[in-house]
Amino acid sequence: MSVRHFLTLLDLSPAELNGLIDRAITLKAMHRRQEPHDFFHGKTLGMIFEKSSTRTRVSFEVAMNHFGGASIFLSPRDTQLGRGEPIEDSARVLSRMVDAVMIRTFSHSTVETFAAHSAVPVINALTDDFHPCQLLADIQTYVEHRGSIQGKRVVWVGDGNNMCNSYINAARQFDFELVVSCPEGYEPRADLVERERGRVTIERDPRKAAEGAQLLVTDVWASMGQEEEQASREKAFADYQVSPALMDCAAAEALFMHCLPAHRGEEISHDMLDDPRAVVWDEAENRLHAQKALLEFLLIGPR
Ligand code: CP
Ligand code: NVA
Repeated sequence: MSVRHFLTLLDLSPAELNGLIDRAITLKAMHRRQEPHDFFHGKTLGMIFEKSSTRTRVSFEVAMNHFGGASIFLSPRDTQLGRGEPIEDSARVLSRMVDAVMIRTFSHSTVETFAAHSAVPVINALTDDFHPCQLLADIQTYVEHRGSIQGKRVVWVGDGNNMCNSYINAARQFDFELVVSCPEGYEPRADLVERERGRVTIERDPRKAAEGAQLLVTDVWASMGQEEEQASREKAFADYQVSPALMDCAAAEALFMHCLPAHRGEEISHDMLDDPRAVVWDEAENRLHAQKALLEFLLIGPR
């Protein structure tokens, strides 16, 4: 069988993704019970980071520790990747030594090129276009708090960025409705919106968008690599802050998520993360459990 990669949520079938969420919940319970699950003795995860990270790095490293395996942090600053060694060559070499590779980078084509030349599974740990690992944690968190997300109304508020694009893929794979509330000029990828016509809509007014929503999600206004646009983005997104007042427009049982890091006073109000509807700390923890399920799936197969 050819090697499986996880570059976007579309690399796994809806049934495989739902199985993975169930497994993440099981692995979390095993971890809570301190039940050993060290299935990966002698296995190594290579972790290439061309952008900063707290949650992604720690969750993958801890996942490999819990599994009895190891991880290697690789930054372009001190590998030949930073000195221009081609991605193709790096993929061929690294995949002869490690058992899986996780990459956080800028262009999505970098992870595609790496995967095309890798003999082992490649995981997208965030590109400019997608952040699929975060979506596994988000869906797990929703399921734990409210049950299946199928048929629910999910509202994305803010920038049509990598997270928003991944929410569009998630809407398709987990079968929910997605409303994107963003200012003009900051829409998610047009091809994705077009592909999911009927399931994904754009509503400029965040209060209207939030009506009847079961989940509200937002993210920073300026993503990594867009730092110089901070000032212009603060102006463009001024009406798109998520606050307890905006949450009040949503359904009574609505939850709030944010992949973090968050900027209080920008995309969220100062009090949003203290609101009981915010489940961001569970969401952050679930990166660990969901990625364990993903690593197992890619290295061993469905459990
Ligand atoms: N949410 C997320 O991916 O966080 P980090 O950038 O800290 O990894
Ligand atoms: N959209 C953000 C997500 C960070 C986890 C970024 O790309 O910087």
